[in-house]
Amino acid sequence: MEFAAVYYSRSGSTRAIAESFAGSCGAKLFKLEDLKPRKSVSGFSALLGLGSALKEPLPDVRSFDLIVLFTPIFAWHPSPQMNTFVRNGDLKGKHVYLVGVGAGESNVKALERFRKEVEKAGAKVLGSKNLKGLQIKQDIKEVEPKLLESGSQLAGTIERAFKET
Ligand SMILES: Cc1cc2nc3c(=O)[nH]c(=O)nc-3n(C[C@H](O)[C@H](O)[C@H](O)COP(=O)(O)O)c2cc1C
Repeated sequence: MEFAAVYYSRSGSTRAIAESFAGSCGAKLFKLEDLKPRKSVSGFSALLGLGSALKEPLPDVRSFDLIVLFTPIFAWHPSPQMNTFVRNGDLKGKHVYLVGVGAGESNVKALERFRKEVEKAGAKVLGSKNLKGLQIKQDIKEVEPKLLESGSQLAGTIERAFKET
């Protein structure tokens, strides 16, 4: 069973979780990169559900059995960068698991919005999870062990979810 993990990360916490996940279950890791490096987070674009220009080519995930999407949560929404991938990344007919990474304990609304986007792209969502990333002004070094642990635990959770399909 071939897994792909696709992530966007600005301050590094989503990247740490996605890398740990991929290392734990052997998923192929793909990074979404801004076409132009950004100075600030586009919270307003996230709020409006917009996309954001990414470096091409986008990850080609068509050959994978399960795709795990990792995005930071900005302004109660998935990142504009993840929106762009979901809308253009050819997820039709794919099994997908969603991971939101935020400062908050739960991001129910954000994950619902993420799910709707992914379903609109024609994919089947197997499940979703919110994981704790960075608080405002927190240094990533403080929370890195926790992020790595979250990523490896997630690998077990998702492998079980996929076996049940
Ligand atoms: C403009 C902005 C808006 C944010 N909005 C939310 C939010 O609605 N919910 C939440 O839980 N975290 C929110 N956060 C916190 C980030 O989701 C959190 O720091 C996350 O770990 C960042 O991921 P990254 O380190 O991979 O870039 C926001 C951060 C910024 C900068």
